[in-house]
Amino acid sequence: MFAYSKGAAGMSIYDRVTQKYLEGSNKIREAVEMDELTKRNGTTNQKLETAELYKQARALIREGNEFNIMDIPEHKRGEIREKREKMMNFDKSAQDRLIAICNEVDPNMRRSATEPARPLSAARITPRPARASASASLPSQVNAVNRAALLKGVDKVIGERLLDEILDNTGVLMDDVAGCQSAKAALEEAVILPALNPNLFSGLRQPVKGILLFGPPGNGKTLLAKAVAGESKQMFFNISASSLTSKWVGDSEKTIRGLFQIARNGQPSIIFIDEIDSILCERSEKDAEVSRRMKTEFLVQFDGATSSPDDRILVIGATNRPYELDDAVLRRFPKRILLNLPDSEARKELITKTLKKHNMMDGLNSSDIRYIASNTSGFSNSDLVALCKEAAMVPVREIDRSKLSITDGNKLRKIRASDFDTALRTIRPSTSEKIMSKLSDFSRNFGC
Ligand SMILES: Nc1ncnc2c1ncn2[C@@H]1O[C@H](COP(=O)(O)OP(=O)(O)OP(=O)(O)O)[C@@H](O)[C@H]1O
Ligand SMILES: [Mg+2]
Repeated sequence: MFAYSKGAAGMSIYDRVTQKYLEGSNKIREAVEMDELTKRNGTTNQKLETAELYKQARALIREGNEFNIMDIPEHKRGEIREKREKMMNFDKSAQDRLIAICNEVDPNMRRSATEPARPLSAARITPRPARASASASLPSQVNAVNRAALLKGVDKVIGERLLDEILDNTGVLMDDVAGCQSAKAALEEAVILPALNPNLFSGLRQPVKGILLFGPPGNGKTLLAKAVAGESKQMFFNISASSLTSKWVGDSEKTIRGLFQIARNGQPSIIFIDEIDSILCERSEKDAEVSRRMKTEFLVQFDGATSSPDDRILVIGATNRPYELDDAVLRRFPKRILLNLPDSEARKELITKTLKKHNMMDGLNSSDIRYIASNTSGFSNSDLVALCKEAAMVPVREIDRSKLSITDGNKLRKIRASDFDTALRTIRPSTSEKIMSKLSDFSRNFGC
């Protein structure tokens, strides 16, 4: 086991985590290269060797994740979080390949191959439950639909993998999302209302089929999509760049075709593509052939799915870099909604909501909240959540270390407005003016 004791082998925890991640991605690369070579015509032994490499890569990633984020110097935590997210995407893709190889070679191996390589502590990503059996792990809405009908016309391995991307209950409700009124209204019109009375929403009133959520990081694009998944009763695919661009398997085009086919088989359905810029950025000469083909396939499928009046498929894209999207992609998202930094009213709402949710409002009155909101211009929603967390820590930091273990949480002093002043010394807005001006330009030219 990878021991994270400080100073062991003279390396900092940051260095050790970084090293493990590097070893993990090198191992993934090795596995992918071998996979490319042996996928089609390799012998069983070669495939087993490939599977072993994927397993080793997953073990390295797991070791890399066995640390507490609080042990990383504060100024490096953002970087490590990003790396961890990337590694978890690698892990997911490695797991998918491992399952496919095991299925191909010997289905009985599949169980051991799918043991999760999940972070043990301080995880940002909700762990996926390991699949006990194919149907047991499927969301209830898919169990209700005939599984075979859903996979009709879709490659079996790809189809299975895509069914894993369906979100059932995210636990997020529209009410949890503060502000974002125009985005909420557009989503309601496109998703919730047509479900109540489909006949009313036909012809010219047909709901829009492509919605692009764009805006500075941390203002609720992903959260809002999760709320739609939680509240709409439609099949909801949560597609990430990694599940579409599994370059190492060379299956991206088939995956996209499969995705739209399943969505069509199970409609009404919603396909949510987060960080869409990472897959559908402007096509250029420099693009690898496989990436160019994938983008084209996406456009073709998108057109097919959204041009037929009978198909009820909505594609929601989210990005914080809309200006990098291909023009052809933009055209397919006629509704483009900016989720901007919160104004003073929205900041008040979010701070109040966050504190109330954790029963921490007692020490603050409305003028305190107004004061905090007036001092946080330029903060994103996620900055504000971080600020509330930091303020909540102030009373804890006042406790003498020797008494910490016997302190009753209920007897802790309430949060005061001055705690937010303290928190403001460390939590600063994360959005730069440069990003804001690019987004404003885009919104002026293309937003609606
Ligand atoms: N409108 C909101 N209401 C409540 N909480 C919010 C809101 N926006 C953001 N948050 C908080 O910030 C976190 C990050 O938000 P989210 O992931 O939706 O941002 P995003 O816009 O998708 O950012 P990115 O562009 O970086 O992907 C959420 O988990 C939530 O805690
Ligand atoms: Mg997001």
